[in-house]
This record gives sequence, structure tokens and C-alpha cells, in this order.
Amino acid sequence: MDEVTFKSDTVLSDVHLYTPNQRHLMVRLNSMGQPVFLSQFKLLWNQDSQTDSGTMGGDHRDVPREETPARTGSTGSPPGRGHSGAGFPLQAGQEGTGAQLDEDGDLDVVRRPRAASDPDPVWPPRDKVHPMILAQEEEDVLGDEARESSTHNIIKIEHTMATPLEDVGKQVWRGALFLADYLLFQRDLFQGRTVLELGAGTGFTSIIAATAAQTVYCTDVGADLLAMCQRNIALNSHLTAPGGGGVKVRELDWLKDDLCTDPEVPFSWSEEDISDLYGHTTILLAAEVFYDDDLTDALFKTLFRLAHRLKNACTAILSVEKRLNFTLSHLDVTCEAYDHFRACLRQLEQLQDGQLRFAVEPVEAAFPQRLEYERIRQLELWKIFVEPGT
Ligand SMILES: C[S@@+](CC[C@H](N)C(=O)[O-])C[C@H]1O[C@@H](n2cnc3c(N)ncnc32)[C@H](O)[C@@H]1O
Repeated sequence: MDEVTFKSDTVLSDVHLYTPNQRHLMVRLNSMGQPVFLSQFKLLWNQDSQTDSGTMGGDHRDVPREETPARTGSTGSPPGRGHSGAGFPLQAGQEGTGAQLDEDGDLDVVRRPRAASDPDPVWPPRDKVHPMILAQEEEDVLGDEARESSTHNIIKIEHTMATPLEDVGKQVWRGALFLADYLLFQRDLFQGRTVLELGAGTGFTSIIAATAAQTVYCTDVGADLLAMCQRNIALNSHLTAPGGGGVKVRELDWLKDDLCTDPEVPFSWSEEDISDLYGHTTILLAAEVFYDDDLTDALFKTLFRLAHRLKNACTAILSVEKRLNFTLSHLDVTCEAYDHFRACLRQLEQLQDGQLRFAVEPVEAAFPQRLEYERIRQLELWKIFVEPGT
């Protein structure tokens, strides 16, 4: 396959968009005849291993300022630098790291100079979407020793590209990398925990969660997608926390009230799984699953239902990309899916059923970047704390 074919109903994740076709290694066709590619994502956690190994307890003030990457977005100006106070870049001619005008009068944004502590400052550039793509020759030229050490820094993911909307889970989305980054920052929070991921897609975030968690229930819908996810879990099993129960791929459909326990159905739940899930889960994750209002409603109902079934208090951590679209109906740029997500958060917070209390909090996005992707300002993390009501 030389070209990725775009049809009007296909979508392609930005994570895959900027990687030239010829650099993707196509490994097989899936059961639906879609080409499956293998990409490598490099983990930068060894770069600052002293900070990683226990002092990352969540206090953002512990993170040295220079090590905190800029949140690049359309203006490219990091928070607190090059801003005029109203959120705009500096005008041409002003001093500092703000924007200049080029000879045509276009904004020419000066990026923050890289700190000496920035990992791998030359290549690949951290502010570009840049999954490293596995080429057959690269694998062959690696000596045994190099291959051994690189495997601890590499996540291999099989995925498809340019899928129809119903298959979006077969691609890796920026929100998965953003949430995974947060998990790498907050490893202490996950140590030994039981975690449930909803809408896990390729399983990327679950794999990262499993580097510290006891057990991760990695869930989604569709046997084909779940099989791909299971394969990714197997490809990365060496990253699983020692002594942990690993990642269990299971079907969890937000449109259904109950978990499937039919042993004939692939990825169904055993009674033992269910009792472990409800008895021990304290963290729920969901990345990039708020793109359709009906599905968003279904996901929030699922969160609500699960929260009532879990034995312990729990925290849900959600990543969302605020996608701006021009709509003919509004004749304006809107972010309807995001607005609906925010409305659901507000509703949840106002719910008072006497049993549980839901508290919602945004997470500051100033945590270090350990994965290579474009951390645009539209990426957000939200936490929902679920506690017994008073
Ligand atoms: C945009 S993808 C995100 C996948 C992955 N979290 C990521 O960020 O790479 C949305 C995911 O939601 C899943 N999803 C959609 N409807 C669902 C449903 N009814 N129940 C469970 N998962 C669903 C899709 O299969 C897909 O994996």
C-alpha cells in the first residue's frame, strides 16, 4: 500500500498523519482486510531517572521550570512567556521570545530555546508529532545488547490508519499519549492499583498504566479491535510491573448495562474478573472518547453505574482534545463535542443521590513530557473524584 486513501468518511489521527507512508512498516491485513502498521513510540523516562524514581508525587512545584516543556499551540508561546497579558503573543519588534512578523507580515513565532536538560534536543523535535517508525533494517542492525536496552524504552503498537469513524479505536490518538504522559509522571499514584480503562483502543494508555499498576482492565468494543489491542499488550509484556497481574483485555460496551459473562464470547468477563474489578478498582481512565454526544452520554452513564458498583472510592482521569470546527449551522467556529463533555461534567458534579459525591477538577498540564507528540494547548486532563455522599 503506497498511499493512504482518504474518503469523506475516513479519519486519520494526527499521531500518524505526519509520518511519511514509506516509513510505516505494514505487517499484515487484519480480519477486515485493513492494512495494519507497526509503530514504535519512544519512552524518555530514563532521561531524568532521579526525578522519576519516587519524587513525582504530584506536586507540580517539584518540577524544575526548565524541564517543563512548553505547551505548544497555534501561537507556540509557552505560558508566562511572550504573552502580552491578554493571552496574545508579543508584537513584532518587542523583545523576548514572543512573535515576530516575517517579510510578508505573517506571524513568525520564535520558539522557546531548548533547555540543556531537554532530552534529545536535536532529533526528533519534541514539538512535532513524531512516532518513531520501526523499519525492518533498524531492527536488523541493532545488536543484541542495544536491542535489549532499547526494549525498555520502546512501546510497539500495531494500528491501522485512516479508518472509518466506527474504527477510530484502531489508531493512536494524541489524548492517549497525553494521558499516558500523566501516568508516567504520577507513577506512585498507580503503584499496585487496579485500574480500568474505558475505550482503550490500541491499548497504549493501558500498557503505560501497567508499568506501575497491579492489574489493568483494558476495555473497548468489537472483537477485531480487542484482538489488535490484545496483540499490543503481548508485544509490550516486558514493560508490565514485576509481580503485577498485567493487562486484561475485556469487552465493556458503554451502551450496555452489564458486562458480558458468556464464555463463548471473545473478551468476556469471568466471575473472578468481575469480583476483582468491583472489589479493587480505584482508578478509571479514558482517553479521547468525547467526540460524539450520544457516546459521551453513554460513557458518563457507565462511569456513574461503575462508581456505584465499585467497593472503594475512585478517581477517573479523562483526557480530551478540544476540537474546534467551523459549523454551517452556527456560521462560526465551535467545539460542540467538548462543550457537551463539559456540560456532562457539570451535571455529574450536581448529582446528589445520597450515596456518592462527584467532585470535578482540571489537571494542570505542566507535567513533563516523556513521549514524543505535539502537546497542543487544546489537550486537557480532568479528574473526577468519587466519594461516599454525606
Ligand atoms: C478516538 S478512539 C480513542 C482510543 C484510545 N483511547 C486512544 O486515545 O488512542 C475512541 C474509542 O472509544 C471506543 N468506543 C466507542 N464507542 C464505544 C462503546 N459504546 N463502548 C466502549 N467503547 C466505545 C472506540 O472503539 C474507540 O476505541
